[in-house]
Amino acid sequence: MLQRLKALFGKASAKPTSPALDPEAIPKHIAIIMDGNGRWAKNRGLPRMAGHHSGMKTVKRITMAADRLGVKYLTLYAFSTENWKRPKAEVEFLMKLPQEFLSIELKELIENNVQVRMMGHKGDLPDHTLKAVEEAIAQTANNDGLVLNFALNYGSRKEMIEAVRDIGQAVSEGKLSPADIDESTMEAHLLSAGIPDPDLLIRTSGELRLSNFMLWQLAYSEMWFTDVYWPEFTEEHFYEAVREYQRRGRRYGGL
Ligand code: FPP
Repeated sequence: MLQRLKALFGKASAKPTSPALDPEAIPKHIAIIMDGNGRWAKNRGLPRMAGHHSGMKTVKRITMAADRLGVKYLTLYAFSTENWKRPKAEVEFLMKLPQEFLSIELKELIENNVQVRMMGHKGDLPDHTLKAVEEAIAQTANNDGLVLNFALNYGSRKEMIEAVRDIGQAVSEGKLSPADIDESTMEAHLLSAGIPDPDLLIRTSGELRLSNFMLWQLAYSEMWFTDVYWPEFTEEHFYEAVREYQRRGRRYGGL
């Protein structure tokens, strides 16, 4: 708590400067499309993998910043169902990152009471990737601090198709009446079941699109875009997004 207050008010802390945020209006769930690793690397004459590796360090930085602010859920788009189209070497590299990240950071995540989760289609993941993530999930299952939710091999359309298929199956088995299908039925069948919709979506790198990310769940989320590439995205940028979120009036279609 003390650390959190220091982060909020910037006093007696070596951490980033005061975000001057309203502690009563911190978004409960922030989702991030971490984009621009490749361009960041290219601008420096480095291979794309160096960008992803640097992006992994940003994951740590922003996870800790979210935790200090009191965000409850942080969902990070780490690999999409479309990313398999990338060159084999890049895919293999990306599939090693969760393992590397967790081997370095899991201890500190546990010390900070962070709960690791994964949202994605597990079937296509290499064994070593899934094993590393599942071990982290198991080891942090009883933590009740920040939920760090990796969207890994995640695709929103596939998620919705599978949800509809499951619902259709329940109908055909007579377990569910079509008339009883409502938003909560759909939500219960999505990969994000049990996690509230994001309050705030952040996308880095200047791209202004959703790229098949949480299309159902983002229906009423506030969106914040920045030109900054993910590897150079700092706590200050993160606070700026939250500050802008706090300026917005959320009406959910009402007045
Ligand atoms: C998009 O940038 C980024 C990705 C597809 C991968 C994101 C992965 C990380 C940030 C590291 C993940 C770390 C963990 C711990 C899982 P891009 O490569 O499309 O960038 P570009 O548009 O500039 O080419």
